Amino acid sequence: MKNRFVLGIEGTAWNLSAAIIDRTNIIAEVESQYQPQKGGLHPRMASQHHASEIGNLIRKILTEGEGFGVELSAIAFSQGPGFGPCLRTIATAARALSLSLEIPLIGVNHCIAHIEIGRRMCDVRDPVILYVSGGNSQVLSYRDGKYRIFGETLDIGIGNALDKFGRYAGFQHPGGPKIEQIAKNAKKYVSLPYVVKGMDFSFSGLTTAAKDALVHASLEDVCYSFQETAFAMLVEVTERALAHIGKDDVLLVGGVGANERLKEMLDLMCKDRGARLYAPEKRFMRDNGIMIAHTGLLMLESGATLDIKDSAVRPNYRPDDVDVSWI
Ligand code: ATP
Ligand code: FE2
Repeated sequence: MKNRFVLGIEGTAWNLSAAIIDRTNIIAEVESQYQPQKGGLHPRMASQHHASEIGNLIRKILTEGEGFGVELSAIAFSQGPGFGPCLRTIATAARALSLSLEIPLIGVNHCIAHIEIGRRMCDVRDPVILYVSGGNSQVLSYRDGKYRIFGETLDIGIGNALDKFGRYAGFQHPGGPKIEQIAKNAKKYVSLPYVVKGMDFSFSGLTTAAKDALVHASLEDVCYSFQETAFAMLVEVTERALAHIGKDDVLLVGGVGANERLKEMLDLMCKDRGARLYAPEKRFMRDNGIMIAHTGLLMLESGATLDIKDSAVRPNYRPDDVDVSWI
């Protein structure tokens, strides 16, 4: 098969990133991260950041690509899910590039990109996937042409829950990594609501209860208990999916996958069952352009390109809406 190079653009939320890859190499990667001064991620502010940075970023990556003698075969972009204003900014850039270079446009589902880069980096074929990030928390697995969702959050994503609690406790965004550090100095577990309904879970009651618990418990103990409770919920549903589907591999992806305690808890569960845990390096867990370029390449090779007229952004794009034509 001919070697093809794809340029991928990510920018659904905090990280504006572009990368060029082929089947075996990451040729170039550039990024610019939006960090709110105070408070959480604001869609309009993030999109203004992306709009002011994207021109420079694209110029830079095209120059780097030229330096390596790359001739691009397609432009891939995150079509959703994500913040509408952010998605529109990167979609506009992707359409303009596709038209001016006269190469196909590819609309990538951001959740599936997290999964596909995890599969590539860990070389795992058919796992149960735990996808945990700011906006999303899902347990998925491939069956009959789609990534099926076995369980998911009924309200907010786990990362979002951690960040909300973190903001309340006075941490800068994102709170997740800070909570992980502080939890290490805890002395005891304080009871917090554990909410699993069927195969789904919920984090908003837990977040409120954790804020309330700060009145009578130390910050360290509450950070620790928040993690233990929320992660136990995620591990329980992942284990039930493994048992139900009869697979032996678990793949952890998404920004919250960087958390060492979550990895440890999943690993224990996997060892207990004789299953294996796979987790890519942190730079492939969080949002990045490489995952969009890689999924774009898989889609290009299976003919899943997009007409400009069908390239409107999809802020609520679900992974189980995608026909996975490349597996
Ligand atoms: P998505 O659109 O997939 O929901 P996202 O915009 O949330 O993606 P990601 O980079 O996938 O972006 O995830 C960011 C989240 O990961 C933030 O909520 C952040 O707090 C969380 N996070 C990052 N590192 C850690 C950590 N070590 N422990 C817990 N949470 C973490
Ligand atoms: Fe993400």
